[in-house]
Amino acid sequence: MTSQTQPETVSETVSLADSAIVEITLPDSLSENAQIGKTAFEAACASCHGVNAVGQIDVAPPLVHVIYEPSHHGDEAFQVAVTHGVRGHHWPFGSMPPVEGLTRGDVTMIIAYIRELQRANGIN
Ligand code: HEC
Repeated sequence: MTSQTQPETVSETVSLADSAIVEITLPDSLSENAQIGKTAFEAACASCHGVNAVGQIDVAPPLVHVIYEPSHHGDEAFQVAVTHGVRGHHWPFGSMPPVEGLTRGDVTMIIAYIRELQRANGIN
């Protein structure tokens, strides 16, 4: 490569959608709890995990992913992740810090939302 050749990726503006790690199908509708959870997720989690929990390249994993199916990461794993943070282990993104300002009830709504997204994508 000569010095005049601009590498394609450097000047590109990366939109949220471009940084998604997985492509997902959105459910036709969300339950009331999941709608509350969606709002909380967008406020507290989407900055890392991406809108609709599709992950963000170089930042955080998609939660709509078979790794996070209920039998592998039960609801309590979500509660613990929010309260205590997560030491990076499944992915190369580093650790998740604890997220402050959410009650267990808030996280229960977020879990309802994530589970509905997961189910719409065959993750049960
Ligand atoms: C500052 C960025 C950041 C924020 C904000 C964040 N996360 Fe994470 N989260 C991560 C990263 C990075 C990992 C992956 C750790 C690994 O390698 O397994 C992760 C992992 C997780 C896991 C997997 C836990 C496990 O046991 O493996 C859950 C569940 C999770 N996050 C839920 C949430 C929820 C819910 C929120 C919002 C309340 C949230 N995260 C906010 C970065 C973040």
